[in-house]
Amino acid sequence: MEPLVQVSDLKWTYVGSKRPALNGINFSLMPGEVLGVTGPSGAGKTTLAMTIDSLIPNNFHGDFSGKILVNGKNTTDYSVCDLVQEVGLVFQDPESQFMGMTVEEELVFTLENLGLSDEEITRRVDHAIRMVHMEDFLQRSPFSLSGGQKQKVAIASCLALEPSILVLDEPTSELDPIGTTEVFSVLRELKKSRKIGIILVSHATEDLASFCDRVLLLSEGNQVCLKNTQEFFTDIPLLTQYGVQIPQIVEAFSKVPGIQPEQIPITLSEAVRQMTEVEA
Ligand SMILES: Nc1ncnc2c1ncn2[C@@H]1O[C@H](COP(=O)(O)OP(=O)(O)OP(=O)(O)O)[C@@H](O)[C@H]1O
Ligand SMILES: [Mg+2]
Repeated sequence: MEPLVQVSDLKWTYVGSKRPALNGINFSLMPGEVLGVTGPSGAGKTTLAMTIDSLIPNNFHGDFSGKILVNGKNTTDYSVCDLVQEVGLVFQDPESQFMGMTVEEELVFTLENLGLSDEEITRRVDHAIRMVHMEDFLQRSPFSLSGGQKQKVAIASCLALEPSILVLDEPTSELDPIGTTEVFSVLRELKKSRKIGIILVSHATEDLASFCDRVLLLSEGNQVCLKNTQEFFTDIPLLTQYGVQIPQIVEAFSKVPGIQPEQIPITLSEAVRQMTEVEA
């Protein structure tokens, strides 16, 4: 199976900066996989997100080296517009990207430059809005929606372009628990469909632990490690060193005498499953 994204020896320095914002980054994203990206503030997470759809280096000044292949395409050979059908990028603040008077217009705008027929545009809008369960909101102003609903419209705008990769930069960090749950229920459905690879930038430990297959840890632009999620969230010395919040369930189970890292549940539902298995 070919990777959706292949990043090799990526290094990027913003113009005027002394140190690179990213240096020595190497990872791949496979179809259906969810990769979490975390690390302290200023680690380079947003910068990394912007390299995947070629916003960096195309729309920023600086020095780029290394290689990023997206579905086999070298990003430096393509513009952001060329890659919109490969990579959807969702930011923390969806409102800043809205242009439409209605949700429907919002979705149509993103498709208009693709030269699609009216029938195809209608099909894609219907499909994308159903994927985020917001069929009843097509005639509403996107600005009148709740935070979670706005973020779901931003996700639908990306999905309408039928990308194979979705990159989300802290999509729920400004949302309340209800908005966060709404967005994750959509993301979980996408993950289940296994049609799309997801890169999720987040500080939220419990979300990363329950949603991601692997986690990439960045610090000061460097790749500290890339581990499977179980291994990552049970490596307490590593989490402590880089200020990553330890999942509460890991804190609790790590106190069990003699327990090995691979036996520690990293989510509440995994803990419940283990306990009921022991009892059965
Ligand atoms: N447009 C820019 N020009 C110059 N330097 C920048 C620019 N954007 C970001 N940087 C610098 O690059 C480094 C990485 O920033 P980035 O925004 O990628 O970090 P981050 O991990 O997303 O942080 P946070 O968790 O706060 O969102 C920081 O030192 C930042 O100051
Ligand atoms: Mg950021």
